[in-house]
Amino acid sequence: MRSLGLFPLNSIWFFLLLVLLCSCKGEKNPRATLTETLDVSALDPHSYANFNELKTKHLSLELEVSFKHKTLYGIARHQVINHKAHKAVFDINGPLIQKVTLGPKGQETEADFVIGKMDKDSILGQPLIVTITPETEYINIYYQTGPNCRAIEWVNSNSEQDPFLYTQGQAILTRSWIPLQDAPSNRITYDASVQVNPGLLALMSAENPTTTNSEGKYRFAMRHPIPSYLIALTVGNIAYHPYSNRCGVYAPVHLLQAASVEFQELPEMLRVAEQLFGPYAWGRYDLMVQHPSFPFGGMENPCLTFINPAIVAGDKSLVSVVAHELAHSWSGNLVTNETWNDFWLNEGFTVFLEHRIMEEMHGKEYSNMLSELEWNELNEELMFIKKSNHPEDAALYLHLKNRDPDEGMTTVAYVKGAYFLKTLEHRVGRKHFDTFLSLYFSKHRFQSMSTQKFTTYLKEKLLKPDFTTFDYRSWIFEPGIPKNVYFEASQRLSFMRTLAQKTNAGEDIFKPQKTVTWVKVPGRTKKRKKIKVVRLKPEDYCTQEWIMYLRNLTQTLPLKTLRSIDRNAHFSQANREIQFEWYMLNLRCNQWSIAPELQQFLQSTGRRKYVLPLFKAVIADSTRLDWAKEVFTKSKNNYHSVTRKSVELLLK
Ligand code: BES
Ligand code: ZN
Repeated sequence: MRSLGLFPLNSIWFFLLLVLLCSCKGEKNPRATLTETLDVSALDPHSYANFNELKTKHLSLELEVSFKHKTLYGIARHQVINHKAHKAVFDINGPLIQKVTLGPKGQETEADFVIGKMDKDSILGQPLIVTITPETEYINIYYQTGPNCRAIEWVNSNSEQDPFLYTQGQAILTRSWIPLQDAPSNRITYDASVQVNPGLLALMSAENPTTTNSEGKYRFAMRHPIPSYLIALTVGNIAYHPYSNRCGVYAPVHLLQAASVEFQELPEMLRVAEQLFGPYAWGRYDLMVQHPSFPFGGMENPCLTFINPAIVAGDKSLVSVVAHELAHSWSGNLVTNETWNDFWLNEGFTVFLEHRIMEEMHGKEYSNMLSELEWNELNEELMFIKKSNHPEDAALYLHLKNRDPDEGMTTVAYVKGAYFLKTLEHRVGRKHFDTFLSLYFSKHRFQSMSTQKFTTYLKEKLLKPDFTTFDYRSWIFEPGIPKNVYFEASQRLSFMRTLAQKTNAGEDIFKPQKTVTWVKVPGRTKKRKKIKVVRLKPEDYCTQEWIMYLRNLTQTLPLKTLRSIDRNAHFSQANREIQFEWYMLNLRCNQWSIAPELQQFLQSTGRRKYVLPLFKAVIADSTRLDWAKEVFTKSKNNYHSVTRKSVELLLK
């Protein structure tokens, strides 16, 4: 039997209940389950919680991590603001509820609870309904995570070697590891005590330790109210490299050196962001380089952004992802989308801010390159959405009720959102727009923002005082890209397109070229001829330029040309972003000889942005479906549930 160090094991009753629970591992919650499916609350399309009647103000977590059982044992102590409610409804998706008590710690009495039926697609999970009195102030939920907890990725927990875990909460996965009111408009403060194996470090989206505690006991506090999707935990053999007294980087020990060089610009980035958008509100800003299975490029957990190790490219070429996650400290974390239908208010703003940071640090041309590449992705996705079952997803404001909020995570929210703001900025001028933005953040800090609230604010504070007319409605509520869009092309990318055209026309762009120049010789009137042989090298152009080049190569390139390109440019050995484009090109050209390398790639990263399009491109040829299924079977244990589920849906 595992130790229960943190638990107030003063009742034999509780112990017996635990024994019972451990013996029925994997089974459903022991208590009564309602037979009818309850509808979500009217407050949020993806939550059952009744936070208008009763809402958590502060959450105290007592957690114990067992790598051996791949289980997290916990008590979630909710301190609530109670508007005379007789029941409290929480969201759960997977946790086994052992008991619920009312009252402050140590003075608890047991409460009745029932668990509602699982929704038909198991997206929302189940409502946990606790009987309370209008005077109830404390609700304590004793639980353990279930066998298919969707938020937690347990890495290496079987081998006892280098155990590691991380959680991913956004959009509605927090309820799979903590029973709570899981809606983005419901802000809470939290603290946590976490027991892990001695020798391991635990970190959360909160004030964090920088060194390991020999007993493996850690305490955390998040003193600002945050939405529940931002609660995060990671545990492992992790070390820290500080850059300044405000920021630094954590990483698995073997990656720390490379990571600390890659993200050297972090203090400067933080300074630039504050100068643009106002004071950083969260104390420290640290990065945590995650396990390769991490499903996203980055995740903006407050105080501690999780970053995919794919971003550690060796040449700082992908650090705009860090700028993006840092920008969420304003858009998203400070001012949060009210529901997942308003997701563009998180991501569209953040891409806009990311580009502002990159422009300040690396110049206009660099940020233009980033946005033009995304512009292409947006146009491609819009064509796809138009023909899909949900053409309405091409509008910024989404209708995600009865759907997985994950479906709203398209380039529409990100890129169309950012272009909307770029167009607005261009219309009213940068100075005006900057002032508007800073005010928007300071005025609504630690609050949620709906699309409706935003348009009212926009009219009042920007358009009216400026006597500007601007058709924001078609941006927000109509599909496609409005005609008034402001687009700035990148010169450097346009050059890469011509380079690609040369390749497409059969020219070898890597062939050494002789150039002749005439140089003056001191004391002589006649100039001397100087012949120089230049050869195009991969390092002549940056990652974004090569991406443009690769995307513009046609599907008719023969194997010989592809081989020669790779011999010269080493795309198959480059960073993940380029490797991804390289494999997509090969699949487009129907060059299946890359299959072994592709398999290796798919088995070594779990970032959905790479994995999903590659599987899609593979099965575009139906004869490769078996290959895809086989590779997925081999890789899926290296994927977080977010990526695993997406690929599963695709291969079905
Ligand atoms: N918050 C998102 C990731 C996310 C969105 C997770 C929705 C779950 C649901 C994060 O900030 C993000 O946008 N990541 C991007 C970074 C990129 C746009 C620079 C990613 O992972 O690719
Ligand atoms: Zn984002």
